[in-house]
Amino acid sequence: MELDEQSVKSLINKAALAKENAYCPYSRFRVGAALLTDNGNVYLGSNVENASLGATICAERSAIVAAVSNGERKFKAIAIAGDKDFCYPCGICRQFISEFGEDIEIISVNGDGDYERNLLSDIFSHMFKSYDGKY
Ligand code: THU
Repeated sequence: MELDEQSVKSLINKAALAKENAYCPYSRFRVGAALLTDNGNVYLGSNVENASLGATICAERSAIVAAVSNGERKFKAIAIAGDKDFCYPCGICRQFISEFGEDIEIISVNGDGDYERNLLSDIFSHMFKSYDGKY
């Protein structure tokens, strides 16, 4: 079912809180994510950068890893907040989110707190599905 306006706003506020914990000394680009599970729980994530750059983890994946590590695998929506333009998940994060469903709502928030709502399937098509062992 569609998330009501109040739940969307609450998730956005949590993503903004998570943004405060971003560890981004290299890019100085803070990102926070708040992931709502089917059980009604919310898991926060922020981007965690690394001196190697390549080992950096995005906010979205941080939130999903936190949720899965706590036994949750069914997700309704994820709000992603940055300081500038509407924050859409990167390609790796789109694939990572798709592991858990194509109907997960992506709420992209900009630095002014405006937001856009899309389903993952609206912004990510032909995702790689699990290998069936038949090669
Ligand atoms: N980043 C995210 O956390 N999520 C995104 O969807 C895009 C990019 C982070 C990674 C890096 O720490 C910084 O933003 C700049 O790319």
